[in-house]
Formats: sequence, C-alpha cells, structure tokens
Amino acid sequence: MIPQGIFITGTDTGVGKTFIAAGIASALKRQGINVGVMKPAHTGCKVKNGLLIPSDSITLAMAAAVNDPMDLITPYMFKEPVAPYIAAKENNKRINPARIIKSFERLCKRHDYMVVEGIGGVLVPITRDFYVADLIKRFNIPALIVTRPGLGTINHTMLTINCLMERKIPIKGIVINYSSKGKAIPAEKSCVKTIKRLSDIPVMGIIPYMSKSMMTFLNPFLELHNSLFNIIG
Ligand SMILES: Nc1ncnc2c1ncn2[C@@H]1O[C@H](COP(=O)(O)OP(=O)(O)OP(=O)(O)O)[C@@H](O)[C@H]1O
Ligand SMILES: [Mg+2]
Repeated sequence: MIPQGIFITGTDTGVGKTFIAAGIASALKRQGINVGVMKPAHTGCKVKNGLLIPSDSITLAMAAAVNDPMDLITPYMFKEPVAPYIAAKENNKRINPARIIKSFERLCKRHDYMVVEGIGGVLVPITRDFYVADLIKRFNIPALIVTRPGLGTINHTMLTINCLMERKIPIKGIVINYSSKGKAIPAEKSCVKTIKRLSDIPVMGIIPYMSKSMMTFLNPFLELHNSLFNIIG
C-alpha cells in the first residue's frame, strides 16, 4: 500500500515546520479526514520530573486530535538540542531507522493521511550515513518545504530542492512563513518571485507573522490546505 501523506521539511531549524504541520493537520482534521502525525525524532526536549517532553510532537498530536502512543509518534527523544545522530551518540545510543519506518507504517495503518514533521533541514543526520532526506525517501511521501523570507533564503531553498531532487523525492511545494516579526527588507520582497522563477516548484502559501490575537481570528492554513489538497487530488 502506498502511504498517503506529506513530509514537512524546512530550510533550517525554527522556520515554522511545527507551526505549518500543525496547521495542516488541524485543517485536514476539520475536513473530516482521519489524519495522523509524526515527528520521527525530537531533540532538545525539556525534562519534567525525569520525563522527556517532546513539545513539537505534543503540538502535532493536539492539532490532529490523535491519541496514538507517543513512542509511535516520536520513537526517539533526546534532551540535547543537537542533530539526532549527535544526541544519540552523546547518550551512547544509536538510532535504528528501521524502528522509525516501522512506527510510520503502524501509524499509516491507523490513519488515512499522515502529516510528518522533519528534524531541522534535509541534511540533518539521523545516523552517520542516514539523513532526513533519506527518511523522506523511505517514507515514500512527497515533501513540502517551509522556508523563511529574506536574505539567504534563495540559497537555502535551492539547496533543499536540489537535495530532494537528487533523491527523486517529489516536492509538493514551498511555503514561505514569516515566523518572526520584523521590518521588510529588499530581499524579502523579491525572494518570492525569484524562488518561483528559479525552482519551478509552486509556492503554495505565504503565511504572515501572526500575533496570538490574530491567530484566534484568522486561519491561513485553511487556504494553504485547499491549495495543497487541490494538488493531492
Ligand atoms: N507565521 C507565524 N506567526 C507567528 N509565529 C510563528 C509563525 N511561524 C512560526 N512561529 C513561531 O516561531 C517559532 C518557531 O516555529 P516552529 O517551532 O514551528 O519552527 P520549527 O521549524 O518547527 O523548529 P524546529 O526545527 O525546532 O522543529 C515558534 O515559536 C512558532 O510559534
Ligand atoms: Mg518543530
């Protein structure tokens, strides 16, 4: 069975992958779709009463309103805020990609559509020779690239696209997300047009910076989800 879903990757850490993935998951849920979520490895977990707290995974699970066991949603958790390969090494452990893939397959059986959040960017190592991009390939679902506007983003976006294309991973589109408030700079205005022109990948959404009060009034994800869904078919 070919899995149905989307892998939300990004040009970097902190670009808004959780924000977008949670938005898409909740929009799908609201449309009555049985959506599951996954964050295959979570580093930088807070520790409470000796327990690791995977905040991204919790946000995703709440957005999709799922009650799957957390060790299926996130099979590997570490407190160190570094790449999974390094975090595992620092704990004298090794990540087994087969365990992640098995968890994904089990979640696919429980749900009709999976929204998966990546870890950092596409070349973040999960093991010494297995990267996030390799995991996307193994999951056999298309990628959505979250990128930030501004200086440097053309380079980061094109590098991400090249890496995915090299592995023949289908790319659904790009979402430009304003994850922080700030003044518009010249590069910000032109980068959307340039990314569209250079990459030939559709820019599926430009998500504005949303203050807490705006979030209660607006749902830009519904619009994003609609364009995404048109392509998924
Ligand atoms: N459009 C937005 N408006 C307002 N705040 C945003 C927006 N996008 C993201 N943020 C905020 O920016 C921060 C970083 O976003 P997020 O956690 O989604 O990034 P990430 O790519 O998932 O990071 P990580 O690599 O750590 O998983 C969060 O505090 C999030 O709430
Ligand atoms: Mg995140």
